[in-house]
Amino acid sequence: MATTLRDPVIPITEIEHSAFCRTDESLASKPLVEELKANIRWQRLPKEYMGMKPEVLYPRIRAAKEKLGKRAVILGHHYQREDIIQFADFKGDSFMLSQNAARQKDADFIVFCGVHFMAETADILSGPRQQVVLPNINAGCSMADMAPTEDALDAWNELSQVAGSGLIPVTYMNSTAAIKAMCGRNGGIVCTSSNAAAVFRWAFERGEKVLFLPDQHLGRNTGVKVGVPLDDMVVWNPFKPLGGLSRSQIQAAKVILWQGHCAVHTRFTVAQIEEARRRFPNVKVVVHPECTREVVAAADLDGSTEFIVRTVAQAPPGSVIAIGTEINLVSRLAHENPDKTVFCLDPVICPCSTMYRIHPAYLAWVLDNLVEGRVLNRVTVDEETARYARIALERMLGVV
Ligand code: 13P
Ligand code: SF4
Repeated sequence: MATTLRDPVIPITEIEHSAFCRTDESLASKPLVEELKANIRWQRLPKEYMGMKPEVLYPRIRAAKEKLGKRAVILGHHYQREDIIQFADFKGDSFMLSQNAARQKDADFIVFCGVHFMAETADILSGPRQQVVLPNINAGCSMADMAPTEDALDAWNELSQVAGSGLIPVTYMNSTAAIKAMCGRNGGIVCTSSNAAAVFRWAFERGEKVLFLPDQHLGRNTGVKVGVPLDDMVVWNPFKPLGGLSRSQIQAAKVILWQGHCAVHTRFTVAQIEEARRRFPNVKVVVHPECTREVVAAADLDGSTEFIVRTVAQAPPGSVIAIGTEINLVSRLAHENPDKTVFCLDPVICPCSTMYRIHPAYLAWVLDNLVEGRVLNRVTVDEETARYARIALERMLGVV
């Protein structure tokens, strides 16, 4: 089947990523109307919420949360602003939060302060009575946006014809529910950054070749971890016929990496690591595996957000730790570990702009409406997609 080549589209989320970069250290929220001046396209809210200062929004959120009681559970991803995390009943990485959501049997509403693919996963894993709400419906993930479902399905059709039956599709959590379902339907699996190596081993026990979506860096770093030579990994460019590869390149490859990346994690460089080592010869450098291969190779440790949290918590007092991940998490870890020196490798403060889309005004707005019996910004996955996506997620759970 031939691929329908579409015009290259740079996701809006990708364009937005530098909108909130700054050199001063403050990560405090401004009224929504002020933040919208950064030339971004976020969901519009009723006027009364637009100009509210955080100090006005906090008691409002607290009051709504109290009225809703156990009927609503608020989940906060590690990359959320402090202004949001303070209201979270649970904080954690994307998968832990979804599992937590599934355990909250009393909760009718799961208010997911994170991004769209996380809310989809929560809907797939939660009970049929539960409704998942994403406070700002535009909160996507620029990396997930680099793998539109139609492009991924086209690539799968083409690749499975060229590569044969030994090709196993593996997708990172940061992808649409439909791509997870494609993996479920075709003998594939989902992974997170904490179990990617175990998932790759699972895939190589069942086939000879892996198609990994959508983050080429996590895929490459994981391939290296499980012993795949760099020369045996190729990059699939969705904007070129046959991904820009020849049939023989596809047939010879062990890992085919989707050409996607995270704009937050690709900001980290080897020069920043060298600078940290020059300033603090005893520094431990810990980075997320969405960083480039060179950065991961130059760091001391790499792992998921939960791994980074654990590494800092378990380090002895007096430790110096430089981190390559999203700034809201790094800043929280520095604050929570005053007996250690914890800092971000990047001197420019650049939050993940899509996680940043969950401003306290959105949280207040959805909670106020839930109190009034109105469910806004519900995220749902249709039954058929959810069934196959669940298969791929359950395979992952069987691996770890
Ligand atoms: P986690 O799966 O560790 O939560 O990370 C998600 C993410 O988006 C990292 O950039
Ligand atoms: Fe997506 Fe990167 Fe933001 Fe994570 S940090 S949600 S991968 S854009």
